[in-house]
Amino acid sequence: MTRVQISGVGKRYPGRGKGAAEVVAVDDVSIDIASGEIHAIIGYSGAGKSTMLRLINGLERVSSGSILVGDSDIATMGERELRRERTEIGMIFQHFNLFRSKTVAQNVAYPLVVAGVATAERRERVAELLSFVGLGDKARAFPEQLSGGQKQRVGIARALATNPGVLLADEATSALDPETSQEVLALLKKVNADLGITIILITHEMEVVRSIAHRVTVMDGGKAVEQGDVFDVFASPKTETTRRFVATALPTQPDPEHLRRLQQKHRGKLVSVTFRDGGVDQPVVFRTLAERGIGVNIVHGGVTEVGGRSFGKLTLELIGDELQVEHGIAALGQQTDLEVLV
Ligand SMILES: Nc1ncnc2c1ncn2[C@@H]1O[C@H](COP(=O)(O)OP(=O)(O)O)[C@@H](O)[C@H]1O
Ligand SMILES: [Mg+2]
Repeated sequence: MTRVQISGVGKRYPGRGKGAAEVVAVDDVSIDIASGEIHAIIGYSGAGKSTMLRLINGLERVSSGSILVGDSDIATMGERELRRERTEIGMIFQHFNLFRSKTVAQNVAYPLVVAGVATAERRERVAELLSFVGLGDKARAFPEQLSGGQKQRVGIARALATNPGVLLADEATSALDPETSQEVLALLKKVNADLGITIILITHEMEVVRSIAHRVTVMDGGKAVEQGDVFDVFASPKTETTRRFVATALPTQPDPEHLRRLQQKHRGKLVSVTFRDGGVDQPVVFRTLAERGIGVNIVHGGVTEVGGRSFGKLTLELIGDELQVEHGIAALGQQTDLEVLV
């Protein structure tokens, strides 16, 4: 069980070329990741996500701040201690980074060879790992004989070989099709639930965050601009960056262009109603409208699961007598999060 405490971490790179300005890749980032948590770091390209991950596994050294993995401060550790500490931190990559000339079993065994584990124990451990990731029958295959999803499973088995407390994933599903992506995410969920391993994953895909993360940090320009439980961040994003990400994963409100088309097709009043666990439920909304003789057309949106809870927005066309519709909107506005669109 491993907690990761990132406090006030900064990373600056010298500018490329003479007189070029310094690059601040990571700027005063603090993230407290509980033992056994799946924490997603999300942001656009250039936000500083990969740099953050390289700082956590000590591949790069911080310019300021501290990074505690368990009790060890990665930021101030010497190279030799760091090599030992890395067995505590597994890592998987977007393009898998497997050895092409080694078999699946040899790839998975590699960290154990480096750690000096005896042959018999190594064999046993590799068999156990391959069965855990569902590749028990692929031990003798070579990476090029595997699908993308299978390659990433090998990557995960290899990352788990030394029994790490933390697993880092850099865009681990970005090179996979959506279905294979879901399989790999399910395996990561199992790694977390069955083995209690803390997972830090960076991604630009909000769908990844929605389906497996407990908490999320949004990075922008090297800074952590938003942080919290996935549900809270999705349900009430506070920055424009987060809002744009959320819109890619959730059925939210129609964009202005879509709204214009809806307006041409639908004569009634268009309103957006937010549904969330613990909020008003749909039957109450529809009954309130029906009681006033207001007809309802669902024209956009939906409800989905975020961090294990329901959340979504529906755009409704309200049809009926103008005054009744006004009263209906007023009544709903008291009970729920309602926005009149046109
Ligand atoms: N080794 C480096 N030298 C100089 N600048 C770098 C280096 N690595 C990353 N950067 C810069 O730091 C910023 C953050 O990069 P990165 O961490 O790769 O972002 P992300 O993974 O979110 O796309 C970018 O502006 C990038 O150009
Ligand atoms: Mg990156």
